[in-house]
Amino acid sequence: MTQPHDVKHTAVLGAGTIGASWTAWFLARGLSVAVWDPRPEAEDYVRRYIADVWSDMSQIGMVAGASPDNWRFCATPEEAVAGAQFVQENAPERLPIKRELYARLDDVLGKDAIFASSTSGLMMSDLQVGMKSAARFAVGHPFNPPHLIPLVEVVGGKDTAPETVQWCLSFYNHIGKKAIWIRKEAAGHLANRLQAALWREAISAVVTGLASVEDVDTAISAGPGLRWAAMGPHMTFHLGGGEGGITHMLDQFKPAFEAWWATMTTPEFTEDTCRQIIDGVMAEAKGRSIAELTKERDAVLLPLLKIVAERHR
Ligand SMILES: NC(=O)c1ccc[n+]([C@@H]2O[C@H](COP(=O)([O-])OP(=O)(O)OC[C@H]3O[C@@H](n4cnc5c(N)ncnc54)[C@H](O)[C@@H]3O)[C@@H](O)[C@H]2O)c1
Repeated sequence: MTQPHDVKHTAVLGAGTIGASWTAWFLARGLSVAVWDPRPEAEDYVRRYIADVWSDMSQIGMVAGASPDNWRFCATPEEAVAGAQFVQENAPERLPIKRELYARLDDVLGKDAIFASSTSGLMMSDLQVGMKSAARFAVGHPFNPPHLIPLVEVVGGKDTAPETVQWCLSFYNHIGKKAIWIRKEAAGHLANRLQAALWREAISAVVTGLASVEDVDTAISAGPGLRWAAMGPHMTFHLGGGEGGITHMLDQFKPAFEAWWATMTTPEFTEDTCRQIIDGVMAEAKGRSIAELTKERDAVLLPLLKIVAERHR
């Protein structure tokens, strides 16, 4: 098996939002990329995407003398995976579509190649079932956009070899990502479950009249969200306990958290709930376009990512 740090050639299958972004990242990290997507406009899309994001990746210090041209668009997925040591699949989030694609590739995938799916919600055990090369398939779930956000969640399915999971963790870390091992298959893996838990309470806060959409957002972006870029919720609370750390934090706040959890409910996405959220977000956006908001977000995110990347170097 090719060692993770010896990988030179990758393939990207499905080049929409996530596939184009992975392509840019692999290129920035000096890897060649063979791209396939059934959409005829995809080749142009990927070309424009790479040109658009290259300077952002340079700004965070992640383009190490690499060429943005070291990729080619292939006519078939078979052609794309031929010679690839690592494949990142980003086809639409539909089990039959991904399974059909995998079945097509089972006989042509390189004997040593590792195959990772970006799937946000499907289980690898369902995707890989019946495949000869199932042991070399795993989930490698990125956070949008993969060319900026470091996190990748690696999850094995029932037929994934443990070495494949370890290989993926090493590979993603080697190319500058922050990979974590999710030890069991679960709907939404881990990070999306954490986001879902927070959004559940954020929506409840709006529908129960606790705060406006804008104030809920400020409660995170001007509050705990700032600390979460430095360290996660457990370590943040270790500091919250002062000199006594997490032990003191638990002693002091256990009853409070249990009482707060007892008051929390799960909202339903009724028409009225959706309307309140949409109206609240539009009011908060104050006419700024998605492109303008993205720029505002990236003005904070890019310097932050540079600091995070330097810390992990
Ligand atoms: N969008 C996100 O925030 C996000 C984040 C993490 C992971 N993901 C996962 O990434 C995958 C792709 O999502 P996306 O948001 O990029 O979707 P997308 O709709 O932007 O892109 C999907 C691409 O797949 C192509 N495609 C269609 N049929 C195909 C086939 N049979 N084989 C290969 N490609 C095919 C489409 O032409 C399109 O370009 C999904 O599994 C999704 O769960 C998405």
